[in-house]
Amino acid sequence: MRKEVELFDVFQETLDKLDGNGILLVAGNPPNPMTIGWGTIGHIWGRQIMTVMVRPVRHTYGLMESVKDFSVCVLPEEFRKELGFCGTRSGRDTDKVEACHFTMEKCFRADSFFIAESAIHFECRIVHKHRIDATTLDPQIIKRYYPLEDYHMVYYGEIVGIYRR
Ligand SMILES: Cc1cc2nc3c(=O)[nH]c(=O)nc-3n(C[C@H](O)[C@H](O)[C@H](O)COP(=O)(O)O)c2cc1C
Repeated sequence: MRKEVELFDVFQETLDKLDGNGILLVAGNPPNPMTIGWGTIGHIWGRQIMTVMVRPVRHTYGLMESVKDFSVCVLPEEFRKELGFCGTRSGRDTDKVEACHFTMEKCFRADSFFIAESAIHFECRIVHKHRIDATTLDPQIIKRYYPLEDYHMVYYGEIVGIYRR
């Protein structure tokens, strides 16, 4: 049973988890969960927007390029091991949903799926995307995070629903 909530009810908890063991970006059908540690939540174009950043080498990148929406799932503390697994194994050769025994449910306001075990989930519709532009990026950040020049694609998801378990 999930209850719809407001952004400010879950903002701090979501950012803490993002900065901690990570949260899960779920895209595709069949759905594939990938751990993310980078992202923003804010207000643009008169809408609540969540951005997620995906390197082109990820299996998730191909999935994100083929869908209109995605979910972001915040797991309870005890799912530390699963977050590590989804952040080191690829959906290209591993069924992470099966391996983690996740229950996938259809989103309420999007075509994507969410993880029923998650404490909070966001449903997001992709309204914009762009690749990180090295020509305007701080050289120190390039040196530290992009030695392979594999610049992230940044996806802007309009938050169309937020739910708590
Ligand atoms: C804590 C943590 C945070 C991560 N954050 C990101 C991220 O924000 N963007 C990204 O592209 N990869 C990130 N990764 C790496 C991916 O989760 C990892 O490469 C994953 O295996 C890709 O799965 P996929 O091939 O099924 O898409 C992170 C990994 C961990 C452990």
